Amino acid sequence: MKRSLIDITDLNTDELEELIRTATDIIEDPKKYAHACDGLKLATMFFEPSTRTRMSFEAAMYELGGHVISTASADSSSAAKGESVADTARTVSCYADIIAMRHPKEGAAYVAAVNATVPVINAGDGGHSHPTQTLADLLTIRREKGRLGNLTVGLCGDLKFGRTVHSLINALARCEGNHFYLISPPELKVPSYVKKAALKSRAIPYIQTEDMLEFMPELDILYMTRIQRERFAEPDEYERLKDSYILTPAKLETAKSDLAILHPLPRVNEISVAIDDDPRACYFKQVLYGKYMRMALILKLLKEAETDKGVARKVDFSGPEYIHGEHVCRNPRCITATEQELPRIFRREADGTIRCVYCEGRTEE
Ligand code: NCD
Repeated sequence: MKRSLIDITDLNTDELEELIRTATDIIEDPKKYAHACDGLKLATMFFEPSTRTRMSFEAAMYELGGHVISTASADSSSAAKGESVADTARTVSCYADIIAMRHPKEGAAYVAAVNATVPVINAGDGGHSHPTQTLADLLTIRREKGRLGNLTVGLCGDLKFGRTVHSLINALARCEGNHFYLISPPELKVPSYVKKAALKSRAIPYIQTEDMLEFMPELDILYMTRIQRERFAEPDEYERLKDSYILTPAKLETAKSDLAILHPLPRVNEISVAIDDDPRACYFKQVLYGKYMRMALILKLLKEAETDKGVARKVDFSGPEYIHGEHVCRNPRCITATEQELPRIFRREADGTIRCVYCEGRTEE
């Protein structure tokens, strides 16, 4: 497996800083990078709807001088004929130097990375993670607040299925002095595996609340999210929860004057358009920053791939922490739920929890 980006924790904090530095340099002097990827190809494989992520990857590659090839949609690729993610990844590796993939199943990007011979970037895997949105979020926070640490961060909306939230918590939890207000209906709380890995393991302070107004005066960042309709098993439950939070100018009355309001977009109704002209609204800048961070990431991964060209290291699952074939992942959204032939591999964590290597689901989930 080539160096890929599947989870935001695949990058250490020095590397996150390095990407922010590169992106900043690109913003200041784009000409310097205009031929950095001459002759190279990015494949975008999006098996779920996307506007920003896909187009920003494509724009990023073009602005680096490279080319883009892509599958038009899940329906028009061989996935519709029943091809596995592993086979598709092996195939596309023959055509492209780097792959960006979005898939509705959790763990799909990891399966692609394990089987591809080129770097794979996870552009969103089900309700699991979305590391390149986090790169956009981090550059936005750095440019708006001047720092990534010592921030009071409110995350609001669908924190259960909102994959951008999971990745952002995993990134900001590694920056000194941050604390979190997790604002959601009880049904849509941050999954326990995210809280455990990112927050509890580091004793990072966080409060879970349903009330979006109570802590508003304290917030430096307010990260709004859409209720993720497509991930609900029961349409009625979505109908009941869909209007849980709607940010209006009146709700910002007690907020700091230098609050930064972020949203990965698309917005449905959770931020009133009346807020768009408020100087605290950063969500459209966030879109632009996403392109620069994706440029920085493509450059980094292609450079690292060059050093061991043609050699895709086999992922070693032979260590004592791995358990083969004994368990079944209970997460119905896991890639193993649809791809029966994938080897069932679980990892035993330090606290004894056994998790699926693909989706991080527990055996009993
Ligand atoms: C997000 C996603 O796909 O998870 N969108 C994006 O990539 N900017 C957020 C969402 O769909 O709600």
